[in-house]
Amino acid sequence: MKSRVRHVQAFAALAFTVACLCLPLLSRGQMSAPAPYTRTPWRTSKPFEEAGYVGREACAKCHEQESASQHTTAMGRAIETVADSRVLVAHPRMSFRAGPYLFQIMRQGGASTYSVTDGTRTISAPILYAFGQGKAGQTYVFKLDGEFYESRLSYYKEIDGLDYTIGYERKAPPSLEEALGRRIAEDEARSCFQCHATAAVSGRNLQLEHLMPGVSCESCHGPGRDHVAAMRARDLKDKRIFNPGKMSPDELSQEFCGSCHRSAEQVLSNKTLQGLHSVRFQPYRLFTSPGHEPFDPRMSCTACHDPHDNPRQDESFYDSKCFACHRSQASLKSPQVAKQEAADERNAKPCPVAQKACASCHMPKVELPGSHFKFTDHRIRIARPGEPFPN
Ligand code: HEC
Ligand code: HEC
Ligand code: HEC
Ligand code: HEC
Ligand code: HEC
Ligand code: HEC
Ligand code: HEC
Repeated sequence: MKSRVRHVQAFAALAFTVACLCLPLLSRGQMSAPAPYTRTPWRTSKPFEEAGYVGREACAKCHEQESASQHTTAMGRAIETVADSRVLVAHPRMSFRAGPYLFQIMRQGGASTYSVTDGTRTISAPILYAFGQGKAGQTYVFKLDGEFYESRLSYYKEIDGLDYTIGYERKAPPSLEEALGRRIAEDEARSCFQCHATAAVSGRNLQLEHLMPGVSCESCHGPGRDHVAAMRARDLKDKRIFNPGKMSPDELSQEFCGSCHRSAEQVLSNKTLQGLHSVRFQPYRLFTSPGHEPFDPRMSCTACHDPHDNPRQDESFYDSKCFACHRSQASLKSPQVAKQEAADERNAKPCPVAQKACASCHMPKVELPGSHFKFTDHRIRIARPGEPFPN
């Protein structure tokens, strides 16, 4: 396995050198300044028109396979407009009582209004966007006096109704004014939309008029206009689109997926992201799994997940991912099996306990209190019954 790791790193280094040697030659003719180094080449800071977004339907014309279901996945629907929100359409009237306050979300035409009343006074606001699919909550973003707010209440699939948003104290709010939810500062609003939508942010500016709902093609690959033009012209030398598959496995998991799912670097440097809720931050959990090497392509996010499709539910699918490295019990008894597995670079220890459903024991499901959802702990380990949650 070590040799494969080195091979991959050497290859990445080589590819990098080649790129460095060629780029000045290619761009000299155009006399353009070299692009500044960016850690997130899939995100553009150009103004909308200049950036050149084309939308997922344009990509679908040539990339049928990647486009088949991406827009129906949870990531593809990480934001829905109020008019299209399946949860809001299916629940024209939701309510929740907390102490003296009655909360309601009421549908009228293509709009939904979120309100709270103490019986005499009422504060209400039209919902602007629905965040999330509701597995671990659907939270609403609205504006009040020109400022963004996040709803105190969220919809949860498991209870098919409203409850407190994760992170809020589970008790009646202190005042009517504070009841609807939390004001979110501009920086935070920008990052909410950056992680949940496409083309909503340019540099430090929100451009909600251009927002495409959900994490779509160009959220991960960058704007596609130049690519489409180059491909139409059959100019295959320079594809003019970012392909995260060309990153090294640890960069892909930590810097790319981790830019939204939160990397080990982000979590280790920010105490508020640590503790039990870090179970939501898979790149961090995976990176800190004992014995597991983030540089190995068999350990990257894309070894187990296709970002263009829903995560697989079948256990046997994930078993094959573990067996890419771990030996079988049979190899302990049969030299022939052992030899074959060594040839396949399966050098990690076999399990003394079981030979299938690996993730069910070694990636335990953890309920985050109040989330009505069990997250899959990506800290792969021997999880002892009754052990405290390992941070
Ligand atoms: C006119 C057809 C066409 C359209 C439209 C198109 N592509 Fe492509 N794309 C191609 C071709 C051809 C390739 C090269 C395939 C190959 O090398 O095997 C390619 C390659 C890619 C790659 C891999 C690049 C690499 O360096 O390996 C990505 C990523 C990609 N396209 C994404 C997109 C996205 C996102 C969109 C929409 C914004 C899109 N494409 C629209 C034709 C198209
Ligand atoms: C632009 C931000 C962004 C990037 C980049 C990103 N994700 Fe996501 N991902 C999200 C958001 C937001 C959700 C939550 C969607 C929801 O449930 O509303 C999500 C959800 C998921 C889910 C859960 C799907 C389900 O059905 O429960 C998986 C699996 C996933 N992402 C894998 C990946 C992988 C693998 C990568 C890297 C190749 C990646 N993501 C990169 C934003 C991102
Ligand atoms: C750094 C990127 C990032 C930011 C910023 C962010 N989210 Fe998310 N969000 C994610 C990812 C990734 C997931 C999926 C994993 C999870 O459930 O924690 C997610 C999940 C969710 C879910 C649960 C989705 C489901 O299907 O159950 C909701 C609701 C949500 N986010 C709302 C928000 C709101 C509202 C904001 C801003 C106030 C916000 N998020 C800011 C990345 C982000
Ligand atoms: C959550 C991020 C994400 C989204 C959204 C996304 N992709 Fe990708 N895409 C990736 C990653 C990661 C890879 C590299 C996969 C690999 O090499 O294992 C990739 C690879 C590709 C490739 C190259 C495939 C190859 O064989 O090398 C194409 C083409 C592509 N994506 C098109 C699309 C299109 C079209 C959409 C929208 C329908 C889309 N992608 C949406 C993350 C994403
Ligand atoms: C060794 C396999 C494996 C790897 C590598 C892996 N995952 Fe997962 N992931 C799983 C399994 C298993 C599930 C649970 C699937 C199910 O039961 O629905 C899951 C579920 C998820 C979910 C859904 C929320 C949850 O907690 O169930 C997200 C989001 C996710 N993975 C993101 C990632 C990201 C990001 C990476 C890279 C840092 C990654 N995964 C790497 C196996 C893996
Ligand atoms: C990239 C290769 C690779 C993959 C993929 C992989 N492992 Fe491992 N795993 C290792 C190595 C190497 C060790 C360190 C000990 C050893 O050599 O067995 C290890 C250690 C472990 C341990 C012991 C951890 C401890 O606390 O001591 C468990 C349990 C484990 N792996 C389970 C799994 C499961 C379950 C999967 C699939 C979900 C998996 N591994 C996927 C390479 C891998
Ligand atoms: C029923 C739960 C269960 C399942 C399913 C399971 N394991 Fe284990 N595994 C354990 C337990 C418990 C231990 C610790 C045994 C001990 O220390 O006595 C263990 C230990 C291990 C170890 C450490 C071995 C060592 O010598 O240090 C590895 C690696 C491992 N399992 C991998 C896997 C893989 C790969 C699979 C799927 C093929 C799997 N496990 C399926 C419960 C399970």
